[in-house]
Amino acid sequence: MALILGWRTFAPFPMNHSGVFLKAVRSNGLPSFPWGHYPWRGTGSVLDPEMKAFLEENTEVTNSGSLTPEIRLRLLTPRCKFWWQRADLWPYSDPYWAIYWPGGQALSRYLLDNPDVVRGKSVLDLGSGCGATAIAAKMGGALRILANDIDPIAGMAITLNCELNQLNPLPILTNNILDLEQDKWDLVVLGDMFYDEDLADGLHQWLKNCFWKHGTRVLIGDPGRPQFSGHSIQHQLHKVEEYSLPEPTRRENNGLTTSTVWDFQP
Ligand SMILES: C[S@@+](CC[C@H](N)C(=O)[O-])C[C@H]1O[C@@H](n2cnc3c(N)ncnc32)[C@H](O)[C@@H]1O
Repeated sequence: MALILGWRTFAPFPMNHSGVFLKAVRSNGLPSFPWGHYPWRGTGSVLDPEMKAFLEENTEVTNSGSLTPEIRLRLLTPRCKFWWQRADLWPYSDPYWAIYWPGGQALSRYLLDNPDVVRGKSVLDLGSGCGATAIAAKMGGALRILANDIDPIAGMAITLNCELNQLNPLPILTNNILDLEQDKWDLVVLGDMFYDEDLADGLHQWLKNCFWKHGTRVLIGDPGRPQFSGHSIQHQLHKVEEYSLPEPTRRENNGLTTSTVWDFQP
């Protein structure tokens, strides 16, 4: 029986690409959602009360077990029903946003410890998931932030997570930004986004354009996934900071022990 726990612990970023988890990302097939108007853009969102109740009922507010105890997040934890339920009972697309990934943790830690990197800057968090890195950028004093994730439920979760951290809702974009005309950003941050070869290729090209066209700084957080370590982008990275992962994050990520922030300099 497939468990949500199954995709969380074993299916994310598997060596073979047959997991439910990866299939969802690869298809880009977004279901239709009860709150309508997707994709949407704007400052936060008016949360559909039913969806809000669903998210609140099926996640737990936590700030433990990650590199950033300053940030409170609604996540899927062992105390949530769907941690143990069959994966196919989850009514929406796979909830990547309900996990705070090691790449995002390292990036967020780095931004919180080095607010000069974001203070007064425009910051795009590409593939923001739960929104922790965008929240860290806001806490560090970023002037303009866009949290971008192709999953509209991630957008809702980010809005709830902003509220948890006493922040006004952040602007959220759920279009695939890789298909759009590039805006100018001072900084683009990507946590744990290099988990699929095709996506890695697309991101690499897009980031190169950002860098060359706008002089954008790009910071990537990654715990050493094969699709990242084996990618040609490796030749264009400078190590910024490496973090030892907390025990709970190690356990949930098949024994990964560190996560690194890289500066992309093509
Ligand atoms: C592994 S999660 C990382 C989330 C977060 N950055 C973190 O480190 O916790 C990857 C996220 O990227 C999103 N994603 C995948 N492809 C994307 C794309 N082309 N543009 C924006 N988001 C994307 C997924 O929906 C998912 O939330």
